[in-house]
Amino acid sequence: MQNEITITRPDDFHLHLRDGEIMKFILAHTAKVFARAIVMPNLKPPVVSLKNVLEYKERIIKNIPPNCDFEPLMTIYLTENHTPDDIEEFAKSGIVKALKLYPNSATTNSQHGISDFDKIIPVLETMAKFKIPLLIHGESVESNIDVFDREKRFIDNILNKKLMKIDNLKIVLEHITTKEAVNFVLENDIAATITPQHLLMNRNAIFDGGINPHNYCLPVLKREIHRKALLEAIKNPCKKFFLGTDSAPHPKNAKESSCGCAGIYSAFAALQLYAEAFEEAGALDNFENFCSKNGADYYGLPHNKKTVTLIRENWTAPSEFKVNSDVSIIPIRAQKEIKWRIK
Ligand code: NCD
Ligand code: ZN
Repeated sequence: MQNEITITRPDDFHLHLRDGEIMKFILAHTAKVFARAIVMPNLKPPVVSLKNVLEYKERIIKNIPPNCDFEPLMTIYLTENHTPDDIEEFAKSGIVKALKLYPNSATTNSQHGISDFDKIIPVLETMAKFKIPLLIHGESVESNIDVFDREKRFIDNILNKKLMKIDNLKIVLEHITTKEAVNFVLENDIAATITPQHLLMNRNAIFDGGINPHNYCLPVLKREIHRKALLEAIKNPCKKFFLGTDSAPHPKNAKESSCGCAGIYSAFAALQLYAEAFEEAGALDNFENFCSKNGADYYGLPHNKKTVTLIRENWTAPSEFKVNSDVSIIPIRAQKEIKWRIK
């Protein structure tokens, strides 16, 4: 049994850093372990312009704890109002690493997302021309579609029929959750991120001992058969799958509410949780590629220079993180054991 793992410092290719006080608090967790992160743009209001993204990056950089080297990789929230000229401006800026596609009303702060996919074709063609990746929240949310089928339906109806038709568009299907998504990624020229929660939990976790809002995220956790398919995917030596935590904190009272919002906070222990999943999958020999190399290669970034070491040692995740006297965040695995620790 392996009791210590040393890998090149990892990157998180899907992270919600939020803004203000919460950002300051959680950024320290991410920056302690991860060298870079693709920062999601679903703020209120969303990050839609070069001005927005420059200002947001500035606020992030101001809040990086001293002695941490951490680089935020910025994204823009794609709307139906963007034009091919906007895309050219983003591409030439050098600061915008990707655009994020949210189907309208699919998840937290997605009400500015896309309803008419035909409308964005010229914009996507321009993205292909400038080789800017499109990061996709892949769920169809029409009310007649079962919540657990949203990903599969998006793949069939939107991704395959419309988005795959655009030559040379670089696509990352984000936070994949189903065997259908794994197969689609393997069979097509696209990449995908996988979260720790979808590798470690199935949908029973949402109802574990009563309704558990802290295990509710989007895409929602799926059946065990799908979790098993994700565990197979991370074993695969192809370079298409990489780390993206989708760590998405919400204040405790917004989760524990009559209409609780979606999002799981994992940044405080993300790498340790991935190590558990890789060990379960028998895939530790692919751990470094998934965490530290595949994503960087996809985005054309150099591998990080330093290393990080995990040791096998049980510890208990905190019951909550107090951001200030009013706001606290309940993390994934709250008050439960985590099997790996950062050395
Ligand atoms: C994310 C959030 O809270 O911003 N929530 C989530 O459940 N993953 C949005 C998202 O990535 O879907
Ligand atoms: Zn997300």
